[in-house]
Amino acid sequence: MSTTKAADRAARAATRHAGARVQLVFAGAFAALLALGLPFAAQAQQPIVIKFSHVTTSDTPKGKGAEKFKELAEKYTGGKVKVEVYPNSQLYNDKEEIEALQLGAVQMLAPSTAKFAPLGAKEFEALDLPFLFANDDEYTRISKGPVGQWLFQKLVPKGITGLAFWDNGFHMVSANRPLIAPADFQGLKFRISGSKIADQYFRLMGGLPQILAFSEVYQALQTGVVDGCENTPSNYLTQKFYEVQKHVSAANHAHLQYAVIVNTKFWTGLPADIRGQLDQAMNEATDYTNSIARKENEDAMAAIEGSGKTTIHVLTEPQRQAWKTKMMPAYDWAKGRVGKEVLDLLSKAMDTKTN
Ligand code: LMR
Repeated sequence: MSTTKAADRAARAATRHAGARVQLVFAGAFAALLALGLPFAAQAQQPIVIKFSHVTTSDTPKGKGAEKFKELAEKYTGGKVKVEVYPNSQLYNDKEEIEALQLGAVQMLAPSTAKFAPLGAKEFEALDLPFLFANDDEYTRISKGPVGQWLFQKLVPKGITGLAFWDNGFHMVSANRPLIAPADFQGLKFRISGSKIADQYFRLMGGLPQILAFSEVYQALQTGVVDGCENTPSNYLTQKFYEVQKHVSAANHAHLQYAVIVNTKFWTGLPADIRGQLDQAMNEATDYTNSIARKENEDAMAAIEGSGKTTIHVLTEPQRQAWKTKMMPAYDWAKGRVGKEVLDLLSKAMDTKTN
């Protein structure tokens, strides 16, 4: 399985890189047309194509959310819009997809908020603070409130429009040894997805974090490039991380959420009625995604447990407290990274102290 998987990944990466280059060249030409103000109406009766690229498989909360958006967008626009969903880093990996969005090679993404620094919006990383959300409902409330809106404002000068936040539940952490006490993290290399806040809390635990693209994690775990990682049950299951990690700890230490974003030039260039129909499709796809995230992750957890390939340790409350105590200095450190304003907003919204 692993050799085939590695070969698959290599082939996919090669195709992706070749394809991505060509796409970016075409994107440049497309952007030039837009700059000339060529209206969509002038482009015959062709449907408007929205390429929605993402890095997880189709059978995850994000993958299902993207498919739901496609279904509703095509239905509400009566076929005037065609949504092409490219899952599992098929087109681009983490960093490439952001570049592709900026250039117009794709029109829609849903990266985790941990990956917004390259867009010049590192404030999104505030949502990665450890032990921030008590549960998914709290996350949903915060993302739909003033904090979520404030974060989306940060994207405006970057030419990016934020449409929605999507849930994917709480991270687990894994390695080939049990991670129960903070001391168990000592000296282990952990893959992180991009957030400096995650970098900080792994360091506070004694780990050595390093950023890797999501599409590279399985192989990095398998070959020992890194010793461990963090992710949600649905991602552990669908990327098969659990097959190459002997121990997984569940402490709800951090939350994984996505922001669905579009290129503003593309979005505002759409006819207003179509944009309204797409907004409706996005709102419903968002409610759908957020409503399935918890169950999807519970089911994934059960499947991982049932596989017998790894041991899941659900931490007790005192064990969680020990992690929390160790990670708490990340809040103070975060002021210099995400700024005090978003931390104040979070405190206010959550009625807890985040700064
Ligand atoms: C990761 O890189 O670990 C996640 O952001 C992947 C995802 O999109 O769920």
